[in-house]
Amino acid sequence: MKTNVLNFSGGPGALPISVLEKTQAALESVDDTGVSLLGMSHRSDWYQELNAKAQSNLRELLDIPNDYEVLFLQGGGSLQFAMMAMNFLKSSHQTAQYIVSGYWSAKAPLEAMAQGQVEVIWSGESEGYRRLPTMDDLKNRVDPRAAYLHYVSNETVEGLAFSNDTTPQAQTLICDMSSDLLSKPIEVERYAMIYAHAQKNLGPAGVTVVIIQRALLERAQPHTPPILNYLAHSNANSILNTPPVFSIYVLKLVTDWLIQDIGGLSKMAVINQAKANCLYQAFTEREDFYKIHAKPPHRSLMNIAFSMKSVEQERSFLQLSKQQGFLGLEGHRSIGGLRASLYNAVSLEACEELARFILDFQSV
Ligand SMILES: Cc1ncc(COP(=O)(O)O)c(C=O)c1O
Repeated sequence: MKTNVLNFSGGPGALPISVLEKTQAALESVDDTGVSLLGMSHRSDWYQELNAKAQSNLRELLDIPNDYEVLFLQGGGSLQFAMMAMNFLKSSHQTAQYIVSGYWSAKAPLEAMAQGQVEVIWSGESEGYRRLPTMDDLKNRVDPRAAYLHYVSNETVEGLAFSNDTTPQAQTLICDMSSDLLSKPIEVERYAMIYAHAQKNLGPAGVTVVIIQRALLERAQPHTPPILNYLAHSNANSILNTPPVFSIYVLKLVTDWLIQDIGGLSKMAVINQAKANCLYQAFTEREDFYKIHAKPPHRSLMNIAFSMKSVEQERSFLQLSKQQGFLGLEGHRSIGGLRASLYNAVSLEACEELARFILDFQSV
């Protein structure tokens, strides 16, 4: 189990050990039904209850207002890039606005271009995605007539994150929170739609959570094929076709863990801040040796992308860290280097262990 404890992968991320154990038991028989989780019908009463409980756990944790629906969809974060444009941009005669602040937010407008008019109102590409836009950068660029403004709250690859104060404002704000949803409290009311694939802080890959305001749901273009239509999924209570029962079950266990073991998202946020502080502190103490990709104050609490003076040093860091049980410290293929991802299930103790390794590491 040591490798699970020291899994710093960018995603799929570590899950709580207690959740892994319960999932293992459910593979044989779930909740004393005598039926394996993998053979459980999505038309059963048991699944109806699971669907409702997973939704109510999310509502409780995120304090989701009543005029928002919670949907469980498939196709990952990437399908959302296309789906939002199919539902809210196509045939609208409006423009969809995008903030491009890293690898993942750059993908979203590419999918939307096939559906309608797209405008990138700010891009950090020329600066190597090392910072996020300030309020001044966005001034007078956000169009209240736009179909929506899309941005990514936490850039998983580059390790950049918007704070409460720098969150963009727009009439119809859509946010990809794939790598930081459930890591801290958020103000859902600021958004028309929030989405996140599960495989960072929510559970395993296979389910994507969409939190959508009813007023936006009503705008879903009727010509969108039902299987890609938010309103059709909402009308079917996310059982339009066979849902990913396994992933939703694990999501429910993870949200139980957040509520019962952690004590909610404010407590989770305090732990996540302490985890990130301990690692940033270690990097700062050896800044002659390590270079953090993102500039302060835009540094993420979930992902720290960093590099060393040479590829050889990085290779030796990876090799030695693996020998000591650390997993998933390779950087994303698009920027190379190294990355430590500190999702919810990575403990403060694991971060302290990695910080010690970072401080002690001597390259060959
Ligand atoms: C912020 C963000 N958005 C979208 C994606 C793409 O998600 P998926 O692989 O589920 O399509 C990722 C992948 O890691 C991501 O980190």
